[in-house]
Amino acid sequence: MSKLAIHSGPQAAEGLREFAWPKLRPEDEAAVLKALRDNYWGGIGDENLPNTLFEKGFAEYHDARYGVAVANGTVSLELSLRAGGVRPGDEVLVPAITFVATASAIVSVGAVPVFVDVDPRTAQIDAVALEAAVTPRTRAVIAVHYGGYMADMDAVLPAAMRHHLLVVEDCAHAQGSAWRGKGAGSLGHFGSFSFQHSKSLVAGEGGIVLTDDEALFEKVALMRNIGRRTGQASYDHYISASNCRMGGLQGALLLSQFSRFSQQAEERHRNGLWLEGELDNIPGLSRQPADERLTRRGCYFLVLNFDAEAFGCSRDRFISAMQAEGVGWVGAGYARPLYREPAFLPDNLKPLLPPGIPVPDYPSLRLPHSEKWAACQVTIGHPYLLGDGAGARLVLEAARKVKECVKDLQ
Ligand SMILES: Cc1ncc(COP(=O)(O)O)c(C=O)c1O
Repeated sequence: MSKLAIHSGPQAAEGLREFAWPKLRPEDEAAVLKALRDNYWGGIGDENLPNTLFEKGFAEYHDARYGVAVANGTVSLELSLRAGGVRPGDEVLVPAITFVATASAIVSVGAVPVFVDVDPRTAQIDAVALEAAVTPRTRAVIAVHYGGYMADMDAVLPAAMRHHLLVVEDCAHAQGSAWRGKGAGSLGHFGSFSFQHSKSLVAGEGGIVLTDDEALFEKVALMRNIGRRTGQASYDHYISASNCRMGGLQGALLLSQFSRFSQQAEERHRNGLWLEGELDNIPGLSRQPADERLTRRGCYFLVLNFDAEAFGCSRDRFISAMQAEGVGWVGAGYARPLYREPAFLPDNLKPLLPPGIPVPDYPSLRLPHSEKWAACQVTIGHPYLLGDGAGARLVLEAARKVKECVKDLQ
C-alpha cells in the first residue's frame, strides 16, 4: 500500500476530479440562451413557460399533483408553513440534525422550533420522540429526509395525524427519493425542495413546493406571487404577501437538466447502496440500515457513522486524509445539533417571537442521539455516485487505503 496522500504519497482517488459538480452540458447552455432570446427572463406566472413545464414535470416525477417554483428552499419551507396555517406563537416540531434553514424558517413565520431527537440508527426524526413533544400549541412537524435517506413515514404520518398536525417534508436532500414507491414530498401536506448549487438538481438558487391539495396549492401560488394569481398581470392582489418567484433563467436551466434526472436518481440509488454496503465492511465505518421501504434514495450525501476507536484515528484526521486522497466532498455534516446554534440562544430568539411567547431554554437541552450523530457522522457527496460506479469505487479505494495506513495518522 502506497504512502498516504496527506504525507505526500500518490492520491488513491485522483480520478474523482472528473466528478466535479454541477455538470453543465451544451444543451443546458442552449436552453438558458433560448430562454434569454425568447424573453423568459422572469414573469409573474404561467406565461413563463420553462418554469411551468418544470413545475409540472418535477411534481409528477414525485407523485404530487401540483408544484410551485420559488426562489429557494428556505422560502419554500416558509410558504409551506404559512399556507398550512402555522401562526405566530405556534410550536413546530423539527429534528435537531438538519441544516439551519429547517428551523430558521419556523422562526421566520413567528413560530417556535421545538427540537426533537433523531433515531439512533438512521439520524432521521424519531416518531416516538415527536409524539412526546406535542403540546396544545403544536401545529406542525417538519420531517427532514436527512441525506436523502427518508424519515420513517410509516410512523411519522400516523403520529402527526393523531395530533392533527400539518406535515411538511423537507426534501432539500431527497430529490428523487421514494418511500414504498411514492415520491418524497408527496406523503405529507407539503414537500419542500431546494435547487441551491450543491444539490442533486441545481440552478444556483431555487426551490419548489409540492402538494396534492388544490386549495393549498392556490394559497402557496398566491403567497409566492405578492398576492397575485398565477398568470395574472394586473395590479390585483388578493392577499398581502412577499415576492418569492423563481427567475426564468433558473427555470430553463432546471428544465434542461431535469431530462436526465430520472437516470441520475437511479444511479445515485444503485451506486449509493453498493458504496455504503462496502464501506460498512471497514471497521469503524457503518451505514444507515438498509430499509426496503426506501424504494429509491435520491441522495444528497451518504451518512456514515464513524467510530474513532474502531477506525484508529479521530474523525477530523480521517476526513483530512480522505480529502488529501482526492475525495473532495467528505465532511462531518452540520457542525452541531441545531439547538446549539447561536441563532437559537434565548437572547437572539426572543425579539423574533411574538410578545408573551415563552422562549425555550435550548442551552439546557440535551438530545442524546442528535449529539451522538453530530459527533460521529461522516458524509460523502452525491456526485461520486453518478455514472457506472467508477466514482464510488474510487471513494472506496481511498477509504480502504486510509484504514490500512491509519497508524501513520496517529
Ligand atoms: C435540509 C435543508 N433544508 C433547507 C435548505 C434550504 O435550501 P436553500 O439553500 O435553497 O434555501 C437546505 C439547503 O441547503 C437544506 O439542506
